[in-house]
Amino acid sequence: MKSILISHPYSTRRSLVKAEGKYYIDDKGRKILDLESGIWCASLGHNLPEIKEIVNKQFNSLTHVAKKLLPDSINIVGEKLLEIADMNGKCFFLNTGSEAIEFAINLAKIKIPNSRLIGFKNNYVTAYGQATKPEDTIDITPCFKCTKSCTPVCSVLNNKIQTNDIFIFDPFCFSRQIFIPPTKLIHVLVNEIKTKNGLLIVDEITTGMGRCGKWFAYQYFDIKPDFVVLGKSLGNGYPVSAIIFDQKIVKSVEKQNFMYYQSHQNDPLGYQIAHKVIELIEAFNYISQVEKKGAFFLNLLKNELCDFQSIIDIRGIGLMIGIQIDKSINVEDIFAKLLRRNIFIGTSIKYNMLNIFPPYSISKEELKLSCETIKDCLLS
Ligand SMILES: Cc1ncc(COP(=O)(O)O)c(C=O)c1O
Repeated sequence: MKSILISHPYSTRRSLVKAEGKYYIDDKGRKILDLESGIWCASLGHNLPEIKEIVNKQFNSLTHVAKKLLPDSINIVGEKLLEIADMNGKCFFLNTGSEAIEFAINLAKIKIPNSRLIGFKNNYVTAYGQATKPEDTIDITPCFKCTKSCTPVCSVLNNKIQTNDIFIFDPFCFSRQIFIPPTKLIHVLVNEIKTKNGLLIVDEITTGMGRCGKWFAYQYFDIKPDFVVLGKSLGNGYPVSAIIFDQKIVKSVEKQNFMYYQSHQNDPLGYQIAHKVIELIEAFNYISQVEKKGAFFLNLLKNELCDFQSIIDIRGIGLMIGIQIDKSINVEDIFAKLLRRNIFIGTSIKYNMLNIFPPYSISKEELKLSCETIKDCLLS
């Protein structure tokens, strides 16, 4: 890797030649179970025949078009996204999650100029740094142990939401920490935003497309976002993202003759892959599978690992699970031991967590094997 900048201090030398379904395959033909779905993208499995077929079809017909010549087929995909998000409005397709978040913030700022961007502390927003950085954050860590009622003036919310604020909310991921915020807190917060004429952007880049056992994680809270932003699993490894936004945003943006220009907006290749991903999630009934397998695996991990003093917490929702470990164990050592046993697990160095975001088709046997192997690696 002499010519490539390594972006992770623990990047590992293992020469991969391909990936298929739930597995990476190295140059010696060894299969490595991918418990992280790439970077949480290949949620339906790597290199699926159905996706290859649609890529081929688009390469032989239409991959990229001028923005003034959008084909009718984009409407079908847009309508499908609006339907599964239960929103009345419009969609726009881009490539990465970061671009899509930045696009949503831009539209929100057209609707409310001079607004502030607010978020939860430690919610990852984009790879863009300053351009999309919230101007203020709310730290909800005390909420997990709080027994008092949630109010806009409690010590956490502390009247932080001001008139016209744009709130960006990633429901559960919290930069790999995987927290489930109390429902009451989210209701009070969203009510504050709405009554103060603000806007709610829900970042479903990680949590959406079935990952948490519903199409979108915000559906656990019974709230109505103004924007839903999708990426990662939407393209199952191909870079396509989407922004879905409410009719009131459409109206304000269209009134101003909105112009946006970048090379790969609304590309047919990307949105057709997204369409196929939605069809496959429906055909395989993955939403319900994820919910059931996630509950099974969380329970199994909690039962099997409960005697380890070094484990601080095991938490998750759907197939998005985190194991938080104290500093007596370095998660990178566990990662390396698991990889020697042909299991690839995610890690967060900052929070010393193991992250498990497996493909939705993972079997109970593979989940049991993963749990047993994690246990062995913690013991050895
Ligand atoms: C919650 C969340 N939002 C936004 C992004 C940015 O997406 P991308 O890496 O596709 O630009 C990520 C990426 O990990 C993410 O986890």
